[in-house]
Parts: sequence; C-alpha cells; structure tokens
Amino acid sequence: MAGRWHDSWREGRIGFHQSNVNTDLVANEERFLAGGSHRILVPLCGKTVDLAWLAERGHEVVGVELVPQAVEEFFAEQQLTATEREVNGLRVVSADNLQIVIGDFFAVTSEHFGLFDRIWDRAALVALPEEVRGTYAQHLRTLVVSGAVLLQNVFEYDQSKMDGPPFSIPDKEVRTHYNGAKVELVSEQDVIEKVAQFKAKGHEYWLTRNYFITL
Ligand SMILES: C[S@@+](CC[C@H](N)C(=O)[O-])C[C@H]1O[C@@H](n2cnc3c(N)ncnc32)[C@H](O)[C@@H]1O
Repeated sequence: MAGRWHDSWREGRIGFHQSNVNTDLVANEERFLAGGSHRILVPLCGKTVDLAWLAERGHEVVGVELVPQAVEEFFAEQQLTATEREVNGLRVVSADNLQIVIGDFFAVTSEHFGLFDRIWDRAALVALPEEVRGTYAQHLRTLVVSGAVLLQNVFEYDQSKMDGPPFSIPDKEVRTHYNGAKVELVSEQDVIEKVAQFKAKGHEYWLTRNYFITL
C-alpha cells in the first residue's frame, strides 16, 4: 500500500487534491476553531492547502505525510521557506507555526509533538483499507488530549462499483471506530452531481458526511 502512494504522487495521480480550501472545513470553521489557539493535527495530509489556511489563522499545525514529494510540492506551491530537522528519528519540515512530518503516521507518538486538541481528517480514514482503519482510529486517540475535537469527513458510496481508495465508510463504521467518544453527525449530503469522475463510472450516489467527534 505504501509503495502505491509513492507511485500515485510520482505519476501525478492525485485526484484527491483540491486547489481550494476544503468547503466542509470552511463551513465548520466557527465551531471547530472556537476558543482561541489550537494544536491541530492533520494526518495523511498530502499537500492540502488546508494546512496553510489553518496555520494562517494562528494555530499550531502538524501534518503527517508519507511521501516526500508531496511535502516538497506543498512548500514550493505555498512559497514558504522551509527548514528541516529531525525530531526523535522523524524527518520534519517546517515554516513558522506549520510543521509536516515526512513519514508514517503510525510512527508518530505523543513524545514527538505532545498532544493535540483538534484533528482535521479529510481523505485520511477513507484512504486506508478496512483492516487498518481501526488501528488508525486507536492511534489517533493516543495523540490527543481528553476532550479533543476531531472534525471527520467521510464518503459513503456503493463499494461494489469500485475498489478504494477512497474507501466507502458508512455511518455505522465511524461510530464503531470512535466507540465511547461523543459522535455527532453535523452534515450529510449527496454530492454525486459534483463528482463527475464518479458519476461517469456509474455511481448513483456519493454521500459526504461530516462529524464532530469529541474524544
Ligand atoms: C487520499 S490522500 C489525502 C491527502 C489530503 N488529506 C488531502 O485532503 O488532500 C492520502 C494521503 O495519505 C498519504 N499516506 C498514506 N498512508 C500514509 C501513512 N501511513 N502515513 C502518512 N501518510 C500516508 C498518501 O501519500 C496521500 O498523500
């Protein structure tokens, strides 16, 4: 699976990347970022412009991305001067209040960056195969303070029509992974008309859900 992500970046197969800030993040900004400055974790971050948008708002932002090319492209496209250092064996590239770990999300522990109080998950949980998703959610919980808020964005579609990633994650599965946390569904929308590439592949619906999950 890891090799596959390197291939995707090398071959420019990054259909998941959005040139604008994610609209669900913007729609939930007021609530997600209320209460002053936050320590925000963005797992499996790619080169999302959301990282810069969050950092511009004064928050301390840490992204984690496996593929070095993605991180290099991020700093070049954002025209940020980056410095590189090692943190307990991890390669970290940073500019002011924004840091990106180049490495495996599962290798990041609370010893590296302390604990976070906000997490933005867009195209991270849905990027992982079923057998890894439970471990991902468990690992995420080891990196946050009690009461931390995870803004979780997922898709649900007819998985029989396509192999992931992205994988279809129904509501029930989200609730299973975050069992014991307060899981609040804040929006649900069928966006099939907006995802032409999936409509063309015969998909009849493409549900996007956003949750506020208090860990
Ligand atoms: C579907 S993309 C989403 C990127 C980003 N969240 C966005 O919204 O554009 C998933 C990203 O996770 C990275 N990735 C996959 N497995 C990873 C892992 N175990 N640790 C860190 N990054 C990983 C991939 O290289 C890819 O850039």
